[in-house]
Amino acid sequence: MAPAFEDNNSETLPSSFSSGSDDGVLHKSKVTVVGSGNWGSVASKLIASNTLRLSSFHDEVRMWVFEETLPSGEKLTDVINRTNENVKYLPGIKLGKNVVADPDLENAVKDANMLVFVTPHQFMEGICKRLVGKVNGDVEAISLIKGMEVKREGPCMISTLISEQLGVSCCVLMGANIANEASIAVEKFSEATVGYRDNREIAEKWVQLFSTPYFMVTAVQDVEGVELCGTLKNVVAIAAGFVDGLEMGNNTKAAIMRIGLREMRAFSKLLFSSVKDSTFFESCGVADLITTCLGGRNRKVAEAFAKNEGKRSFDDLEAEMLQGQKLQGVSTAREVYEVLSHRGWLELFPLFATVHEICVGHLPPSAIVEYSERKPRLSLLEGSTQYY
Ligand SMILES: NC(=O)c1ccc[n+]([C@@H]2O[C@H](COP(=O)([O-])OP(=O)(O)OC[C@H]3O[C@@H](n4cnc5c(N)ncnc54)[C@H](O)[C@@H]3O)[C@@H](O)[C@H]2O)c1
Repeated sequence: MAPAFEDNNSETLPSSFSSGSDDGVLHKSKVTVVGSGNWGSVASKLIASNTLRLSSFHDEVRMWVFEETLPSGEKLTDVINRTNENVKYLPGIKLGKNVVADPDLENAVKDANMLVFVTPHQFMEGICKRLVGKVNGDVEAISLIKGMEVKREGPCMISTLISEQLGVSCCVLMGANIANEASIAVEKFSEATVGYRDNREIAEKWVQLFSTPYFMVTAVQDVEGVELCGTLKNVVAIAAGFVDGLEMGNNTKAAIMRIGLREMRAFSKLLFSSVKDSTFFESCGVADLITTCLGGRNRKVAEAFAKNEGKRSFDDLEAEMLQGQKLQGVSTAREVYEVLSHRGWLELFPLFATVHEICVGHLPPSAIVEYSERKPRLSLLEGSTQYY
């Protein structure tokens, strides 16, 4: 069982997340982070610095850890709680003594009324199933997860999966945030965007929980727009990696990023008419696209894939290059492709379609710039909608 952190800030203050109990006592918000990879660990660190500072939150931040045994034979959770560092996914960075790692998912969420979901997207359906009936009635959730589930009925955003399965409302936080040691973890300035549906007060609470002098967070009323920006830019980053692997230079990469941004916006607006153009100019939009296409693991592994002329699979390269971290762009490209095929939109999105076809070996990496045959089809979209 994970230890408890001694909460020095025990005064009970009003919070917008009251338990609703009829004894008139309003409770402070208690935060659990579900996930402890690279970004999950940085998010826990950011949040923990704020819960210590702000009296409307309990000091302790619980962080659910998907348990692993390290090469030393120790459990990852034990090492995090002993050293205050996630030695596997964020080595060298202290998380804050009020972060308590917990390998028991149900125990980690049982007292929380603010849940931060931050695992690779492919694990979320299983995690949600395990949490049905286990979370408090007053829980508010936020998803930092980039990706979507594709079901027979159509695409399902991760925030929707969380809302529907757990019966809670769910905001999202996305942005130009590559979490590695050289950036946010060492407190270099960056930004993020909270997307909310209709409750501005809750959005502000999330902004408060994440904001620090080096991490500037703003809120926009566009959950799907923010989440799709965060999800789709990983597909464009794979394309950017191919361009790098083929040593095509910055002009080509800039062209791919511009075409990718157009497809991101068009795809998002075709799926959800509520998506706002202005969202693409927030941190979650163009800024995240730029950072992910310049740095980031999707670009890096795609570069290696192209350098190997597509002869080594992404699974193989991921295992070798990422040491347990997960790629999102390849699975998202497949999911987007399924949506495009199902809806008859393949011709409208040549970049997205080509990325998937390269990833699965149907086309060579060089096909990423072979637009001459596909380009005219873009006019189908240009001529018929206002999205471009
Ligand atoms: N790392 C970043 O820079 C960054 C930035 C913004 C958003 N994100 C998003 O955050 C989410 C989490 O990414 P990350 O970087 O924290 O993780 P990561 O890729 O660094 O680590 C993988 C995590 O998955 C866990 N895991 C492995 N198998 C699992 C299973 N079967 N069930 C549950 N968990 C399992 C591992 O223990 C580890 O915590 C992703 O959706 C990602 O797109 C990441």
